Amino acid sequence: MMYLDFFGLREAPFGLTPDTAFYYNNPSHQEALNTLLIALQMGEGFIKLTGEVGTGKTLLCRKLLRELADDASFVTAYIPNPALKATALRYALADELGISYHRNMGQHKVMQMINDRLVEEKAAGRKVVLIIDEAQALPGDCLEAVRLLTNLETEKSKLLQVVLFGQPELDLHLGRPSVRQLRQRITFSYVLAPMDVPAIAGYLSHRLAIAGYQGPRLFPPPLVREISRVCQGVPRVVNIVAHKCLLAAYGEGRAQISRRHLRRAIEDTESLRRHAPICLKRVSMALGGALSAGAAAFGAFALLGKG
Ligand SMILES: Nc1ncnc2c1ncn2[C@@H]1O[C@H](COP(=O)(O)OP(=O)(O)OP(=O)(O)O)[C@@H](O)[C@H]1O
Ligand SMILES: [Mg+2]
Repeated sequence: MMYLDFFGLREAPFGLTPDTAFYYNNPSHQEALNTLLIALQMGEGFIKLTGEVGTGKTLLCRKLLRELADDASFVTAYIPNPALKATALRYALADELGISYHRNMGQHKVMQMINDRLVEEKAAGRKVVLIIDEAQALPGDCLEAVRLLTNLETEKSKLLQVVLFGQPELDLHLGRPSVRQLRQRITFSYVLAPMDVPAIAGYLSHRLAIAGYQGPRLFPPPLVREISRVCQGVPRVVNIVAHKCLLAAYGEGRAQISRRHLRRAIEDTESLRRHAPICLKRVSMALGGALSAGAAAFGAFALLGKG
């Protein structure tokens, strides 16, 4: 990417893939992760984590998988995109557990094999955790299949724990009468909050540092507040805007991000344009000087004209 050398970066700091190498331990992510780990340790059967689009659920899911991989007392099965039929879900689980089955075996037999494996793991002292990302996309019959899987138990305890990650619509789906049995089983839930201003300040510098940045602060505090407001604390949107800020600064050969760069980044981001006029008003107030206010107002005018 063009600005990497200019800012002394090894790699792109604001990519959109949930890469655990860039994980920033912001308080709400850390709390979410701890809550999940504790709930799993306690043997909770059904755990749910919801959060708005782009708040970091998939990243957290990967982080959780890594934590559990380091713990010999857990075995995990991961289903990243569950727009599956119930049968496919069972096959996917069998695959994840390393069970060898034939496609023509029949569902009953596959369930039997899954059950046997779960019993074996239990006997070996291991907890099996099924982790489903994008759970808001689970079809109804699939949710029911998941519930039936967690029915598998010995006299003393559950054989399978399930963690559902999903957007807030997941709660709507779980509100349907057909899945109320499942909803009742959810004994642990966590709602992932958007990041606040201090978290975003830390987030921006952490991602830059991981990408190799060593220079002085790129985003001055007033801009961080503005980014936080415009992006509503959603890290994916922050990444988009921060990337465009770097591009704009690079385009002018500037080593620090200015309000002008941020304005351009917002202007360039379709979903954020409606926030721009307020942003410009605040910016021009903060700048105070008639000249800059005039320039900002001109910018606003140009933006409105485009809108
Ligand atoms: N704590 C964090 N540390 C580092 N990067 C983060 C953090 N939280 C979110 N991100 C970044 O924000 C972006 C969006 O995260 P992610 O894809 O996990 O969101 P999501 O909640 O799964 O979104 P969706 O609802 O669309 O599935 C990714 O680039 C991810 O790396
Ligand atoms: Mg996701």
